[in-house]
Amino acid sequence: MAGKTQAAGPRLLIEDWLPAAAIGVECMRERGSASALAPTTFLHVWWARRPLAASRAAVLASVLPADFPRDVFERLLGFWGTSTQIIAAEEMLTAARATGQKITNPHGKRAFRAPLYENDIRAAHSATTEVWGHLPTVMDPMAGGGSIPLESARLGLPTLANEYNPVACSVLEATLDYPFRFGPSLANRARKWGAVWRERFKNKLERFFPTPDDPTYGPTPPLCYIFARTVPCPSTGHPTPLVPDWHLLKPSGGIAIVAVPVVDKKAGTWTTTIRPVGVGPGSVAAAPPRTYSKGKGISLFSGEGIPAEWIKAKAQAGEMGSALYAVALKTPQGLKFRPPLPADREALAAAAQHLAERRRDWEARNLIPTEEYPLVTTDARPRTYGMPRWADMFSPRQLLGFGVLMEELHALRPQILAKEGKEMGEAVVHLLAFVLDKLANWNCILSSWNVRAQTVRSLFDRHDFSFKTTFSEMAPVTAGSGLAWAIDNTLSAFEELAKLPHAEARTTVALSQGSATSLVQLADGALDAIVVDPPYSDNVQYSELADFFYVWLKRSQGYRHPEWFASLLCDTAEEAVKNDARFRTGRTTAKEAAALAQAHYQRLMTEVFVEARRVLRPEGVLTVMFTHKKQEAWEALFASLIEAGFAISATWPVMTEGAHSLHQAQKNAAQSTVILVARVRAAHAGTGYFDAAMQERIRRIAAETAQRLESEGLNAVDQLVGSFGPAMGVFSAFDAVRTDTGAPVSVGAAIDIAAEAVAGWRIGKLAAGGLQGVEPEAQFALLCWDTLQAAEFRFNEAKLLGNAVGMDVAALEQAGLITTKADKVTILSAADRRRATPLREEEAQQLLFGPLPGAGKKAKKADALKIHPRDPAFRTHLDKAQALALAYADAGGGAGGIGAARALALRHGIKAGDATVRLIEALVRAAPPAVRRPQTAAGAKFPEFRAWYALLLPLFGITPPDWSEKTPAQGALALLGHNAPAADDEDEANGEDEEEDEEEE
Ligand SMILES: C[S@@+](CC[C@H](N)C(=O)[O-])C[C@H]1O[C@@H](n2cnc3c(N)ncnc32)[C@H](O)[C@@H]1O
Repeated sequence: MAGKTQAAGPRLLIEDWLPAAAIGVECMRERGSASALAPTTFLHVWWARRPLAASRAAVLASVLPADFPRDVFERLLGFWGTSTQIIAAEEMLTAARATGQKITNPHGKRAFRAPLYENDIRAAHSATTEVWGHLPTVMDPMAGGGSIPLESARLGLPTLANEYNPVACSVLEATLDYPFRFGPSLANRARKWGAVWRERFKNKLERFFPTPDDPTYGPTPPLCYIFARTVPCPSTGHPTPLVPDWHLLKPSGGIAIVAVPVVDKKAGTWTTTIRPVGVGPGSVAAAPPRTYSKGKGISLFSGEGIPAEWIKAKAQAGEMGSALYAVALKTPQGLKFRPPLPADREALAAAAQHLAERRRDWEARNLIPTEEYPLVTTDARPRTYGMPRWADMFSPRQLLGFGVLMEELHALRPQILAKEGKEMGEAVVHLLAFVLDKLANWNCILSSWNVRAQTVRSLFDRHDFSFKTTFSEMAPVTAGSGLAWAIDNTLSAFEELAKLPHAEARTTVALSQGSATSLVQLADGALDAIVVDPPYSDNVQYSELADFFYVWLKRSQGYRHPEWFASLLCDTAEEAVKNDARFRTGRTTAKEAAALAQAHYQRLMTEVFVEARRVLRPEGVLTVMFTHKKQEAWEALFASLIEAGFAISATWPVMTEGAHSLHQAQKNAAQSTVILVARVRAAHAGTGYFDAAMQERIRRIAAETAQRLESEGLNAVDQLVGSFGPAMGVFSAFDAVRTDTGAPVSVGAAIDIAAEAVAGWRIGKLAAGGLQGVEPEAQFALLCWDTLQAAEFRFNEAKLLGNAVGMDVAALEQAGLITTKADKVTILSAADRRRATPLREEEAQQLLFGPLPGAGKKAKKADALKIHPRDPAFRTHLDKAQALALAYADAGGGAGGIGAARALALRHGIKAGDATVRLIEALVRAAPPAVRRPQTAAGAKFPEFRAWYALLLPLFGITPPDWSEKTPAQGALALLGHNAPAADDEDEANGEDEEEDEEEE
């Protein structure tokens, strides 16, 4: 029979049910603040790590049968209570945030830290054994930072992890092997050797980091040094700094501190003084004018503008320098700054001199990276700004430090191995190599000083190599900071990781390096379950970023894994990402390169799934975690799965980030990871026909899914994205889908239908009487408010919604309803759209209904896109709605406002039941919480929502929806039966409870 999957045996839990909303809450708690993050995050940088809570749920639900007891499953997920309690607790917090009320954290321990009970593990093992005939073997073939295999191993399941990138492999070794093999004691051993390493480093480097006797603060050891990049001034030739902001400190409350440049034009030099901003003695009224903005500089010496081309040319000619302009000190009175002293400058010169002496030897012994920054890359900035080699990303003194660290690590290794034994010793050296990587990330010329947070911002604070015109250098020898901090931070992360609860049975994860397209080490049908989180198109260029660490790890760890570190930089041939730069040749256009890159990505993804199908037993399960807001990315994923012979059997969007951002209405950060379940499609599944019946089925399933996801607390974007999978379940059950004329039907066509159905369902909910007669632009704007709940959102999200109503984002812009800038789309308020004066009768005729014969002066087209409450006529229903709101506001709101709006409604024949009023009612329903309150920034910007709300009843006899905020009642938890929440002990001890932090925002 056609349209069947291969799966035999019991249905899996993930194919039937999953507490997706509560898992989402736990994911968000895991991401809630830096202190809440899993220790894996701090062990070493890796990009796009999945939350442990979602990873464990995906693994466990993929191998358990659907009839597994819910309470045991929830305990195994690490939930502190039932899903209902977790959701209720989160709702209380959300309500508290919305109303600014402070409440005690109603949550218990975070899921990934919660104890795992052996009884529950045994129950899970026996249930899975019944399904699979043995303990199921789980593999993640694209394991990255290792969230999925770590959770599988913690559950005591036989686990395999594969990864293409050697840096990630190195991270996986320390994440998946050492915690189980050595436990937390490895951290103690590494700490001991870290102290020896640091002592040797200090002895060699101390003289380059003096503690001068400062007139104000005495001899205080520096914490870090703040530098500006300089270029020769075009007319004087003197090195002039490129400083976009002279602030050193800009706390949200408290006194700002700035560096003030003092220029000696005659000598061609400049120094700084440090000043508070304010009115007191010694203060300056404001920060000095910046000398760099948007790629261009201003000379301190001549005041002339310095073109971007000049800056780049000087950088590439090796004439860009660095000048120290402030030193940060940690004093008993807090963070203080002083200007550089002669001793600082002498030390810098001495360090540069010493590096020059050592460099040749270090390069010959391959201790510092001499590799060139790649020519083929999506980020050419390091080359553009004078960093053609990886070593150029460090100042001379920084590089000197790394050279000494590498040299001393090699020198220490024989002693470490002799004392600790080979196995433990190598693991110690490996963790110390990670310390070096951490320091490199935080101490290079692309790491900068964060004036608000009063800390250093690491290079990979962003996912790129953006050029920084000012940078900060750590004082690596100072006690408690620099190297000491990096050692403690890395080893504490490992210790915490090793202390995470796990099944008693010791697990060894089999790790392999290679492309998931070719798992040659595995026989056909060797695996029961594959759980994978593949790259999402062009979201992250893993190997381009990882090269930064590759060049160091090659030197610190390459001897252990020559096969991983044999190439110059990370291999990219089989990397499954969309990287346009790799397809840019002399002749290809950007568009062609993008198409080729997309095809390459899709081919590799298909090959990954073809290989997954080979190594899975026929009744095995493939679970894919995927996050993307681009419909094209979803289409590529589904197309690859279908082509590889899989049929989709379930999908679960799990919100992993940003629920509370819904209340800010400025940024739309709601992010979900979709967990998608696929089974091998039965042989000869046949051809399906994209006839009315199939389309109707897709529509129905998509709308039902969206409805179900809404009831589970998922936001509207996730409802939309989450409906794609089930809709694809219909489509993917066949080998091919064709129209009745035999033409092949693309995955995109099925997704479009699903999106349309979801949009239709949502509009239906907002406008009981429908939106017939309302122009599509207004429907699109309504959907944006309803779905994205924000005035600003990303282009891709708007595009996704646009597809759903058959409109382009460009059409909204042409209609004068939004502005777009790069990736950002902003909805214009009624006030933004207001014209200074009303149109005259003939102008209105001309602009709105076309030119009149013999009309005089031609009216400006842009005026037609604006509105004024006294305009004689309006183009659209949205225009009328906004004019009503403006009239209400102009008259001061209240009774006067209602009167003014009533007069306008009468003039233009706006009455209950017509399209304008149906649109207003829908907009009031769609209004996100932030615009309902005047005191928020969004509320102040969009008062029209409150005007419409006020007008509905008196003008049109319509009772407005309930806008009142729920007040979080502390008693509600008791009702839920959760009496004494045991929040994470560690966090309480540290006073670092993320929920508490968030309340303070
Ligand atoms: C989204 S990340 C995985 C993140 C991981 N789940 C975590 O939580 O840390 C995708 C990974 O796929 C890897 N990758 C890309 N192409 C690959 C290939 N052909 N074979 C195996 N892994 C690949 C990337 O290096 C990246 O680490």
